[in-house]
Amino acid sequence: MNDTNRVMQSYGRCCASPRFFDDFYATFLASSPTIREKFARTDMTAQKQLLRAGILNLVLFARGMPDTKLRALGQSHSRAQLDIHPELYDLWIDALLKTIGQHDEDLQQADLQAWRAVLNKGIDVIKAAY
Ligand code: HEM
Repeated sequence: MNDTNRVMQSYGRCCASPRFFDDFYATFLASSPTIREKFARTDMTAQKQLLRAGILNLVLFARGMPDTKLRALGQSHSRAQLDIHPELYDLWIDALLKTIGQHDEDLQQADLQAWRAVLNKGIDVIKAAY
């Protein structure tokens, strides 16, 4: 199976797990005080829904969709706006892969490698706008 199909199926299993996004943000916020500060005034219920779509956009881009949505995310996360330093995406990926491991009960080693490749491709677009 190719990387993006592996990731789509794994993501489907994660989204079917009710606490997936709660656990992702708990892990991500715990990973650094800088990240906690960035989300200090955020409505986290809304943020979880936004992230659900945001991850889908990363996957769709890796499947060949144009980069329009990711360039917009790059703008909102850039130095001039949210000021999300490129290094913080490593913590984001670590937290996401850890959470996937906790919620995808059919996860195989090859799925994790596929996730890494798919996420990095889109995150490179977002970081390039910093
Ligand atoms: C807002 C997705 C990485 C911090 C958002 C939004 C989306 C999103 C869809 C709402 C729309 C927008 O503002 O453009 C993503 C995706 C990421 C990512 C897909 C990974 C590729 C990060 C990282 C941080 C971060 C690493 C670091 C702290 C924030 C903050 C907001 C935000 C602070 C605004 C929250 C608020 O409205 O109070 N993100 N994000 N994001 N993101 Fe990200």
